[in-house]
Amino acid sequence: MRLLIVGTLEGHISAAGQIAIGRGAKVSHVETIDAGLTALRNGRGADLVMVDVGLSVPRLLKAMKAEHINTPVVACGIQSDPDAAEAAIRAGAKEYIPLPPDAELIAAVLAAVTEDQSSVVFADPVMASTLKLADQVAPSDASILITGESGTGKEVLARYIHEKSRRNGNAFVSVNCAAIPDNLLESELFGHEKGAFTGAVARRIGKFEEANGGTLLLDEISEMDIRLQAKLLRAIQEREIDRVGGSQPVKVDIRLLATSNRDLEKHVRDGNFREDLYFRLNVFNLQLPALRERPGDIPVLAAFFGKKYAEANGLSDRPMTASALARLTEHHWRGNVRELENTMHRAVLLASAKEIDSDAILLTGEGMSPLIGGAVTAAPAAPPGQQAPTASAPSSAAGDADGGQSLVGRTVADVERDLIIDTLEHCLGNRTHAANILGISIRTLRNKLKIYNDEGVAVPTLGDGERNGL
Ligand SMILES: Nc1ncnc2c1ncn2[C@@H]1O[C@H](COP(=O)(O)OP(=O)(O)OP(=O)(O)O)[C@@H](O)[C@H]1O
Ligand SMILES: [Mg+2]
Repeated sequence: MRLLIVGTLEGHISAAGQIAIGRGAKVSHVETIDAGLTALRNGRGADLVMVDVGLSVPRLLKAMKAEHINTPVVACGIQSDPDAAEAAIRAGAKEYIPLPPDAELIAAVLAAVTEDQSSVVFADPVMASTLKLADQVAPSDASILITGESGTGKEVLARYIHEKSRRNGNAFVSVNCAAIPDNLLESELFGHEKGAFTGAVARRIGKFEEANGGTLLLDEISEMDIRLQAKLLRAIQEREIDRVGGSQPVKVDIRLLATSNRDLEKHVRDGNFREDLYFRLNVFNLQLPALRERPGDIPVLAAFFGKKYAEANGLSDRPMTASALARLTEHHWRGNVRELENTMHRAVLLASAKEIDSDAILLTGEGMSPLIGGAVTAAPAAPPGQQAPTASAPSSAAGDADGGQSLVGRTVADVERDLIIDTLEHCLGNRTHAANILGISIRTLRNKLKIYNDEGVAVPTLGDGERNGL
């Protein structure tokens, strides 16, 4: 889920943000009501807004109401300010969270808002049999390796397994091994003692301890440095961890789930992944089929995302025409469910007031669209019925790929830049996902974006406030 924090309150709010990140939320932060409204308006939205009660919460709520932004808002403030709390609730805030934040309270609020986070939408028999397997193995404590192409729903499935397990009353903690630099990942996983290294100003509890009693998801495990893999193996075997700079091991009780969108067996053969660790993680393997292998899921997922983004944008949930649906079912969906989700997000914003017709369906890899000249992957926040802005980017490499010919005469660097920028736009600025789709490491992507930035190319900014782990 995506959490937008508005305000500062001398660090208390960011402590709340850290707790939310620990619970799997993606958190973005702005300081003022106006900046918060801008963030909500730009079409990227948030699932929950947490606002400093010292700011004008009534003004925020009034503006949101006027603009049909239906995201729930909770107010936060120091306990000694009951008047401000009352004013916030009166203005329409859903909850009041006293600061300093209580981890359980924040978790409860997040859970209430994200009830459907672990629901897996499906209709295709192929997916039904995958879920049947998941149901069978969920109650055990066995480690599960979830594999599948980027965007197939590996994280969704991990949450589903946690919810179906005996540990569902305890934490589900997720760590993205690809997004955290190697030198920080060890302390992220195992924690550190004060003074363990430069910058370790206080003791920090790692994700293993945080997930104690619950489930730990090691997302994109294939990206973990081989030296750290040895420590991870020890932690799994011994059921205890060593904090960085710590003198005594700490016992932990966790169930491990891991995901990978790469062929881990090949990684093992190439010497990049420890075989013993692979066998430890892969007690059971759940393989998520690509979306094109389960076409029966496309209509139900499209309807689900259509409703979700209509609600998030304060728009009515409009039906899809048969031709719009035909376009969706015929598409190749290289980016899988995430690509379908982004496509529906755009469609909801572009469609007319009555229905979602095929002209609102902008698909990756297609050339000129009648609605948006040249823009293949723009995600404009234009109100329904209005023409979306034309993208100023050079013609899309992805869009030209079909013809092939049109690439002749362009340099590799040039085409690569367009491909990277288009993919990033398509992922609403999410670098982790863009790197996955492009098949390059996040580090390579970051380096390239830095060069483009320095050259003055407009690089899509972090969409969805993806601060988590970046
Ligand atoms: N069956 C499903 N029902 C509802 N939403 C889904 C389903 N599968 C995927 N999604 C949504 O699609 C998006 C991508 O899913 P998720 O992040 O789980 O994929 P992933 O396989 O982990 O991708 P990546 O390899 O890029 O990390 C998310 O927004 C998720 O909520
Ligand atoms: Mg994932």
